[in-house]
Amino acid sequence: MKQIFEQTQFGTLRIKNRLVRSATFENGCGDKGHITPRLGQIYEELAKGNVGLIITGMMSAGHNAGVNDNMIQIYQNDFVQEFQKITENVHRLEGKIVVQLGHCGAKASVIDRGDYAYAPSDIQLGNTQAKAMTIDEIKALVKEYGESAMKCKEAGADGVEIHAGHGYLVSEFLSPYFNHRTDEYGGVIEHRAQFLIEILDEIRRCVGKDYPVLVKINYCDLVEGGNEGADCRYICELLEKHGITAIEITSGISVNPASAPTQPGNRQEGFFAEGAIDIANHVNVPVISVGGYRTKEKTEFYLNQGDIAAISMSRPFICEPELAYKWENGISEKSDCVNCSQCFGMPQHGCKVKSMQNK
Ligand SMILES: Cc1cc2nc3c(=O)[nH]c(=O)nc-3n(C[C@H](O)[C@H](O)[C@H](O)COP(=O)(O)O)c2cc1C
Repeated sequence: MKQIFEQTQFGTLRIKNRLVRSATFENGCGDKGHITPRLGQIYEELAKGNVGLIITGMMSAGHNAGVNDNMIQIYQNDFVQEFQKITENVHRLEGKIVVQLGHCGAKASVIDRGDYAYAPSDIQLGNTQAKAMTIDEIKALVKEYGESAMKCKEAGADGVEIHAGHGYLVSEFLSPYFNHRTDEYGGVIEHRAQFLIEILDEIRRCVGKDYPVLVKINYCDLVEGGNEGADCRYICELLEKHGITAIEITSGISVNPASAPTQPGNRQEGFFAEGAIDIANHVNVPVISVGGYRTKEKTEFYLNQGDIAAISMSRPFICEPELAYKWENGISEKSDCVNCSQCFGMPQHGCKVKSMQNK
């Protein structure tokens, strides 16, 4: 029987327990793409709190990527020097940290190359008109992913995670809901997966075959006309062939509440666990399950359903960065997070519950 508090391994990445801080955008921590002391503090609290692995909030892996001005830009000149301080501190505290490589695609608001947000096809989202990327733009961005991964490695990160879920750029390419291309990047699933596979191959070319490269991907897009489990199984088998280290399974393309990866109103723990179990049965690389985990009991239960290697959480670690320490030492059995999701609007990575408790 798998235990939460035992060592596990994702390829060459050894982690001290099976709890992962899922990528959580630390809105308000980056300043024009630069890393601020507050970001260092957030990771320090998580490392002290004994979580096995920290996955950073999404950082811009290329141009036109930012959801807002506060998203850290890996391609800015000082990134390696700035992020190195963070990795050194996390390692000093015996933690591990992986950078999430993000690109917000049609949802990006920081357009620093050309005039439009990038997307697989012309997409109108709210007031934003995103444009279908040209082949040259795709090839240039794939190169930027490789360069970004290399910079993370130079900065001492323990790995990178490609964000391929939640209706951001890579997920937009994967999903027939957004991708209406008729060239080699659109149409059948083999073509829709091409962009992601080129990114993975380029990252591997830059960082070598042993460096941990994870992916976070939708099992299901949760919209009519989106991807379903069979598509995800196909993509994950392909990712395995191309050398992915571990796969984090989420769901939701985030175009309405029903397709939100936080599942507002859904109190079921492990709300995407079935998909993770299915993928874990199909591939031979470690699978991480995210979504709604709040108690030690259910976390342990799902760890032992099928072949899930680790459980990741987001909102509970905003509420209590020390959660893993508390569970391990019997100080608590459940998270204080109440799924209010007000953390989305809180400045400086804040939690409504925690701020009420501290009054
Ligand atoms: C404030 C906030 C920011 C998030 N930022 C990211 C992100 O940068 N990248 C990502 O893959 N998921 C992001 N997510 C989604 C979470 O990683 C996770 O998939 C989702 O919240 C469900 O897990 P939970 O129930 O443990 O919160 C974010 C979630 C929240 C609440």
